[in-house]
Amino acid sequence: MRMRNKPWAIPFLESFGETVVKEPQLVASTWKNRLNCEILHVEIGSGKGDYWNNMAHMYPTHGWVAIEKDRNVAATCLRKNEDDILPTMALVNLDAKDIGLWFADGEIDVLHLNFSDPWPKKGHSKRRLSHADFLKEYKRMLSEEGEIQLKTDNSGLFEFSCVQMSNNGFICKDLSVDYRRVDHPEDAITEYEQRFLDLNQPIYRATWRMKDE
Ligand SMILES: C[S@@+](CC[C@H](N)C(=O)[O-])C[C@H]1O[C@@H](n2cnc3c(N)ncnc32)[C@H](O)[C@@H]1O
Repeated sequence: MRMRNKPWAIPFLESFGETVVKEPQLVASTWKNRLNCEILHVEIGSGKGDYWNNMAHMYPTHGWVAIEKDRNVAATCLRKNEDDILPTMALVNLDAKDIGLWFADGEIDVLHLNFSDPWPKKGHSKRRLSHADFLKEYKRMLSEEGEIQLKTDNSGLFEFSCVQMSNNGFICKDLSVDYRRVDHPEDAITEYEQRFLDLNQPIYRATWRMKDE
């Protein structure tokens, strides 16, 4: 998602008090206290925040951390959802390449990867959010019963993710190559997902948990 520079983005993000977490490494191990929850969700690459906001309202006792590296997209997300932000919601406007510093062992219950950038060139595969390097970090940060939920329109990214997961100690719980063929009122539709649904394209989705060692 490329967006034109918005000169108001930085002051707007800075004016947002507690919701925008500038130094997530200082919150590691205390997210659940901070968001007053027992179940912590983290969405990487949250875009304009439809999923983050809708899911937080659907599950108001859970905590919801959105990670979005693009400053203009993050500011647009906050402006769009400004009047709806709950105390259980937080936004980190940083690149998730450093996510390993931000959460303690076992702190995350559900990790959401929604329509992540596919990085189709082989030489860029390490940037994919389901690359083994990221999975190593996710594994450490996920709780015992924790899970990863991934949705995408991109068959190549889906195949890559399935292989990476199975080669790195995750077992698949659910898999669909046309997730919205049936209603799923328990799961909000993201901005990108809505675009693909409007084009009648199938949504690939799978969930994984860690193998019992
Ligand atoms: C294709 S968009 C999808 C947005 C949203 N999840 C949706 O489904 O509509 C991918 C988003 O992930 C963000 N992103 C990509 N890599 C990221 C990273 N390493 N850390 C944080 N955000 C990232 C991009 O800036 C972009 O806004």
